[in-house]
Amino acid sequence: MNQGKRAVVTGATSGIGEAIARRLAAEGMTVVMVGRSDERLNAARRRVTAAVPGAEVKLERTDLSLLGDVRALAERLAADVVPDIVISNAATIAGIRDRTPEGIQPTLATNHLAPYLLMRSLIEPIGQRPARFIVVGASPTGLTRVPVDLTDLDCATGRGLGIAPSFKPFVAYGRTKNMNAMFVYALARRLTNTRITVNGAHPGIIKGTGLDQNIGGTLRLLNLLSKPFLSGPDTGADTPAWLATAPEVDGVTGKFFVRRKQVPTAPHTTDVARCDQLWDESARLVGLTPALSTRNSGRG
Ligand SMILES: NC(=O)c1ccc[n+]([C@@H]2O[C@H](COP(=O)([O-])OP(=O)(O)OC[C@H]3O[C@@H](n4cnc5c(N)ncnc54)[C@H](OP(=O)(O)O)[C@@H]3O)[C@@H](O)[C@H]2O)c1
Repeated sequence: MNQGKRAVVTGATSGIGEAIARRLAAEGMTVVMVGRSDERLNAARRRVTAAVPGAEVKLERTDLSLLGDVRALAERLAADVVPDIVISNAATIAGIRDRTPEGIQPTLATNHLAPYLLMRSLIEPIGQRPARFIVVGASPTGLTRVPVDLTDLDCATGRGLGIAPSFKPFVAYGRTKNMNAMFVYALARRLTNTRITVNGAHPGIIKGTGLDQNIGGTLRLLNLLSKPFLSGPDTGADTPAWLATAPEVDGVTGKFFVRRKQVPTAPHTTDVARCDQLWDESARLVGLTPALSTRNSGRG
């Protein structure tokens, strides 16, 4: 059923993204692995093709923290065979005061604005074909206490991030993971006239990935102590890959899943007015009009 389909997986150079890519390649799909380093992309491709002989793998080098790179990626994907599946998996935990060369806080840019811009940009090229979008978020339970501050998306004020310096980047990361769920709900409502579905997934708390390298202080210690009890990337890949491939979720959209089960997320992520406000502000930040079209608002 999935043989010959084309799947795009962002952040496919390590951890859960690489495991998703491997799993989809094993199902006979052409997998477009997106990463920011040629060296890491080539190494990941070697690992995937070693695990899945004959795997159809294409590489797309894109720094997802840069809107210009994301736009160019969307254009290349649209000009080629348009994807049947797009999995936004890449994420980072950057310093609160860091800024990309485009002036955006990198956690916000990579974890939320990149999937927002990439998926929005692919809607028109996909047209009336069926497609599945999956956004890898994080634990709905863990994120209940870090609502998105809609007046401070890039955490520039530092408000509500706590006192411990080592926690602040992690709280900012948590907010972007809540944005992932809000984006899924807002996008699903806007896709009702298409055959594109969009769902979110928490992969579980997974060891052996790159994300925890960014964690410092007390969190690093907690992380190290919990490692022996955690599962690896293949477990983390299961729910996103299932959402991408399973016949039983055909037509299911606007939902969030943990271990293949639909779960609720915090009320602050489901509130329609809040989701719409995030949608509009994200459109402004990426230079699109809020209306669902790829028309540029005139901002660079
Ligand atoms: N691990 C967990 O316990 C856990 C828990 C909840 C949610 N998640 C979610 O699972 C997803 C995968 O995380 P992971 O744990 O597998 O971490 P990971 O191993 O660090 O994977 C993150 C991937 O994103 C890529 N990436 C980061 N910044 C990028 C950029 N600017 N441009 C392009 N690619 C970029 C990384 O590429 P590089 O190799 O270039 O850095 C890497 O391939 C994330 O969305 C994360 O929030 C993970």
